Amino acid sequence: MYYSDEVLRQVREANDIVSVVGEYVTLNRRGVNHFGLCPFHGEKTPSFSVNEREQFFYCFGCHQGGNVITFIQKMENLDFIESVKFLAERAHIQLPEAEVSPEEKRRAERKTRMYQAAADTARFYYYQLTRSPAGANALSYLQNRQVGETYRKKFGLGYSPISRNALSAYLRKKGYQEEELIAAGLLSGKPGNTYDRFFNRLMFPIFDAQGRVIAFGGRVMGQGEPKYLNSSDSEIFNKRRNLYGLSLAKRTRRGYLLMVEGYMDVLSLHQAGFDNAVASLGTALTMEQANLMKRYTDMVVLCYDSDQAGTNAARRGIPILEKAGLQVKVIQVPSGKDPDEFIKTNGAEAFEEVIKSGMDPIDFEMLVLQRQNGQEIEGQIRTVKDMAQRLSEIDSDVERELRIRDVARKMNTSESALAQEVESIRQNTGLLEYQSSQRETRSRERESLDNRMDAAMQLLTVLIKKPEIYPKIRDVLEIEDFSGEDEVTKGAAGYVFQALSEGRSVTLSDLFTQLSSEEEQSRFSRLYAFELPESKEDLGKFLTQTIRSLKQKRIDAMAASDETDVLLKMLQLKKELSTLAIKL
Ligand code: CTP
Ligand code: MN
Repeated sequence: MYYSDEVLRQVREANDIVSVVGEYVTLNRRGVNHFGLCPFHGEKTPSFSVNEREQFFYCFGCHQGGNVITFIQKMENLDFIESVKFLAERAHIQLPEAEVSPEEKRRAERKTRMYQAAADTARFYYYQLTRSPAGANALSYLQNRQVGETYRKKFGLGYSPISRNALSAYLRKKGYQEEELIAAGLLSGKPGNTYDRFFNRLMFPIFDAQGRVIAFGGRVMGQGEPKYLNSSDSEIFNKRRNLYGLSLAKRTRRGYLLMVEGYMDVLSLHQAGFDNAVASLGTALTMEQANLMKRYTDMVVLCYDSDQAGTNAARRGIPILEKAGLQVKVIQVPSGKDPDEFIKTNGAEAFEEVIKSGMDPIDFEMLVLQRQNGQEIEGQIRTVKDMAQRLSEIDSDVERELRIRDVARKMNTSESALAQEVESIRQNTGLLEYQSSQRETRSRERESLDNRMDAAMQLLTVLIKKPEIYPKIRDVLEIEDFSGEDEVTKGAAGYVFQALSEGRSVTLSDLFTQLSSEEEQSRFSRLYAFELPESKEDLGKFLTQTIRSLKQKRIDAMAASDETDVLLKMLQLKKELSTLAIKL
């Protein structure tokens, strides 16, 4: 789906970036830019800037940038079209129906076929479990683990038979193309030589938040390695961006999500009435998953094993969830059990009590440190000092003070001593931060040096930031000079040239709507940070240099040709190059 350039321009113009960003970030004017704390990465000194003229934001810390639409995409976790709708609504603009390009149509149809094939695969495994003799083992395995029929069906469990080509044959007979089945991660191998990935396993279909099958996890029944085999990432599955159980858990009325480690835990929690359980997919919790949860809830209860690995996973997960704006509670299931085992031994009510005992992250940290450092006096000192470090990271004065009081009480130490310890750490970090911001400035300078390597991008920067220069270079610089560049750069150059030749100027924000992939966007975002020479003389020299190196690249490309007229043209360009000089 797409909207015309005209519609997009209208939406962008009706939503000034400074005021839109200002609804999420406190901005302070500094020169031509507005600065604030970056909402996309944790920081204590503002390196997030918004420029009104360019209608563009850029973070010097994490290098994310874009126009007002990109900002809403990232901030509200929406896709492009949804963000346009969001902004149109904000500005009370009536949008026309979006159109679809042939390329988009082709891609969408390919995806639809892949989702269909994944759903058919789940159906195949389900059938194998319930109606084939070979599935009997798997069914009794499930019975042993007390998975009832209702939840077996709800989660679409299945069985992959003892065969290397049963699924392949089934899917091919349905008319799917092998290439697409491989790209969807459903078959292994190459077209003409495919084979089934899963062999004699209990199958857990993985659904995306919308409830479409996108991948599978397969468990050996009984002993065996690996215990779980998962689909690898594919055109329809990204394990960092999905959560097991979310399509069901998103409808919970409990008001929070319960994050556990395993597929079996999710299943057995749902069965026990905890319909808000989700699990990550065989990796540590990611930022993408945290943002995904934030779409459906404001609070996550982390429930990992109480062993060292589980504790570490919780400690790593907490800041990720907090960064996504989620409130976090941590529970540890007693006596080294996972939730599935715990519920089977102690029942759902006992687990409800465990949830009630959930700790906030600071208390959890204290518990972990106490366990780690022990109760000897040296251990206690270590714990107080480590806690002081943790407390010193709290930005809000009010919250810090209340937390200090609470921790001091719980640790049997005096509030004033702890407060003093925290204060001295804060002063030291103040110094450290100053030093690191100095380092950052230096690396920023280095970055602009790196940018200087790419002449094409620099010229585009000049043309965007100083369109008044265009008449001075119009006669020596032509669009063909960009012919040695990659397609995206060529496209961007064409866009800028077109506008300037019609007497319009182009902002970075305009240019951004021409870029589709995140990679292109992040490459072009850096134009924002690129600083142009200030004096006319230096800028003239700079232009001479960049135009020369751009043309040189074009000449080099032409020199490889075996056509006479190309070579003749090349010689002519070479001659012109030797006398080229820009004076402003
Ligand atoms: N996992 C995996 N590959 C493995 C082992 C584990 O991808 N070889 C992932 C699975 O998502 C699994 C989770 O890590 O669900 C937790 O592992 P574990 O606690 O061993 O699994 P359970 O879900 O508890 O499975 P079970 O109770 O059947 O042993
Ligand atoms: Mn388990």
